[in-house]
Amino acid sequence: MKKIRLDKFLADLGFGTRKEVKKLIKQKRVQVNDSIINSPSYAIDTEKDRVYLDGELLEYSEHHYYMFNKPSGYVTAREDRTYPAVMEFFEDNPFYKKLFPVGRLDLDTEGLLIITDDGQLSHRIAHPKWEIEKEYYAVVKGDLSGKNFSRYEKEGMKFKNFTTKPFKIKILSASPEKSEILITVKEGKHHIVKKIMEKLGYPVLYLKRIRIGNLKLDETLEPGEYRELTEEEIKNLKKLVNL
Ligand code: URA
Repeated sequence: MKKIRLDKFLADLGFGTRKEVKKLIKQKRVQVNDSIINSPSYAIDTEKDRVYLDGELLEYSEHHYYMFNKPSGYVTAREDRTYPAVMEFFEDNPFYKKLFPVGRLDLDTEGLLIITDDGQLSHRIAHPKWEIEKEYYAVVKGDLSGKNFSRYEKEGMKFKNFTTKPFKIKILSASPEKSEILITVKEGKHHIVKKIMEKLGYPVLYLKRIRIGNLKLDETLEPGEYRELTEEEIKNLKKLVNL
């Protein structure tokens, strides 16, 4: 059982600041179970109590989770001195001030970014201990016909200062100039896909993240668009990191 104040309950749902939601309460627009409540400090059991605003039942959630299709040309940050930043797309979101991106994509990388205000989930998804898979679609320079990269599925790849976790490359198409691949890595190291492909001799020309763990990029989202994660998607993501 989790008890919180009625004004926090309403503010967490985006109905305004604490001050603003107090007004809604004083205007007798808020009902808890069978009674109109006019005390902002009234304790709500978020699992059992039924809270209505103007007669409409509200579903509580403390945190907010979005799937964003990052366009190329944006820095994964709240703001940046040189380039536009991904959080600009969330400026009109009621939770804008609390939201941040989970992990990082390069300036020129597109695709799936989770945007949330849930620090614990974010921390776990990014933490190497959980080995969350990240899958990318990439176009690389050069001909991958007949190549086999299965040894990296067992031993990873050695660099001067580190060895990657095992990763998988699936070739989708190959031609003399360029090839298309799916590459799945289990770490969030800076430029990891570009470093791997560069070392193999096939530099990345285009990169798009299409999956984080069990969460797939919704292909109906155009670059620059976002949507809320569904209850099911949130539950599945949390399960992956024991939350
Ligand atoms: N690997 C990269 O090289 N770039 C990204 O943006 C993500 C993974």
